[in-house]
Amino acid sequence: MVTKLVEGINWVGYVDWTVRDFHSYATKRGATYNAYLIRDEKIALVDSVKAPYVKNLIDNLARLTDLQKIDYVVCNHAEPDHSGALPILMPRLPNAKIVCDAKCRDILNGYYDTTKWQFQIVKSGDVLSLGKKSLTFLEVPMVHWPDSMVSYLAEEKILFSNDAFGQHLATSQRFADEVDQSVLFEEAKTYYANIVMPYSKQVLKTLEAASKLDIKIIAPSHGVIWRRELGKIIGEYQKWASFANAKKALIVYDSMWESTAKMAHAIYDGAATTGIDARLMRIRTLGNTEFVAEALDATAIICGSATLNQKIMPAMASALTYLQGLKPQNKMGFAFGSYGWGAKGGADEVQTFLTAMGMEILREPIKCAWVPTTEILETCFNAGKEIGNKIVNGK
Ligand code: FEO
Repeated sequence: MVTKLVEGINWVGYVDWTVRDFHSYATKRGATYNAYLIRDEKIALVDSVKAPYVKNLIDNLARLTDLQKIDYVVCNHAEPDHSGALPILMPRLPNAKIVCDAKCRDILNGYYDTTKWQFQIVKSGDVLSLGKKSLTFLEVPMVHWPDSMVSYLAEEKILFSNDAFGQHLATSQRFADEVDQSVLFEEAKTYYANIVMPYSKQVLKTLEAASKLDIKIIAPSHGVIWRRELGKIIGEYQKWASFANAKKALIVYDSMWESTAKMAHAIYDGAATTGIDARLMRIRTLGNTEFVAEALDATAIICGSATLNQKIMPAMASALTYLQGLKPQNKMGFAFGSYGWGAKGGADEVQTFLTAMGMEILREPIKCAWVPTTEILETCFNAGKEIGNKIVNGK
């Protein structure tokens, strides 16, 4: 499949319907690895695909051009989902130079034997003329790796945005306006939370720089291509990158014999009485990918764990370790949980995680021995209500 974006520019990537694990990100709707071929007086391939799909990429390229005629391979980002094809691809493109920034070249050198590859190193503001069209490069470090770059084709007003504005979504449609919008924005948000969240400051800078460009099409390296109502996805990025939270509280927990679950339900009931969007989540059922997607715009994240071998429950430890790495900002919460014969354990470790994330901690952990009493459940209910009211009143 070689979908046309505009005359002379085609999508030549690969739709991966089967992937369900993308370095621990649960891709429940698959993924795509987007590459684009620009045919002008010179021919440039923008990005490539993951290693197993190099043959699909080569077949797509061969439908459009003689491979010997490709002059440039623009590598906006060296992560292997966009560069894995290069070791097989580059010997098939004897006349092509890799166009990338210096950090990208260093990373490619680290991953692959690049001794026979020709490089043309570019930096922000550099322009690569292809004839009638030209690519201007903008380095966007840490959106997603230090080498990340976007490429702008001014004549067609296309921004090849690499990881930014992506979604993990396998579909036979190539354009955002052709797919179910609720699924699309759910996947765009899940992608932002799981991939881009820690780099939100850099995203805001990138949005500022991009606002100076006249953009008609955003062609990311994952998912569908945005060609209509760009303001909507740009607005969502602005909101997510600013941690502009919804009036929403997550009560997320893991339990052994349902004591922590009962506490979670009581906190949830208290929060829900205030009219906020309260959500109850058992982490072992939910999984980390969905948890952090929900956490992205939550004002409060209230976390509970039973005590297992004097420690936090493993699924909760995994979820909080993952969330901590994603550097959520502007959140509040507290910990809760049950224990048996030793009062140290689950809830305390949860609170340590929340504190380390820089959250506003609203109270000491709520703990109970064995089974929560009526008084403990009342404390949980009131704590949920208090946090709900705080959210209603604008924190
Ligand atoms: Fe899609 Fe950071 O690679």
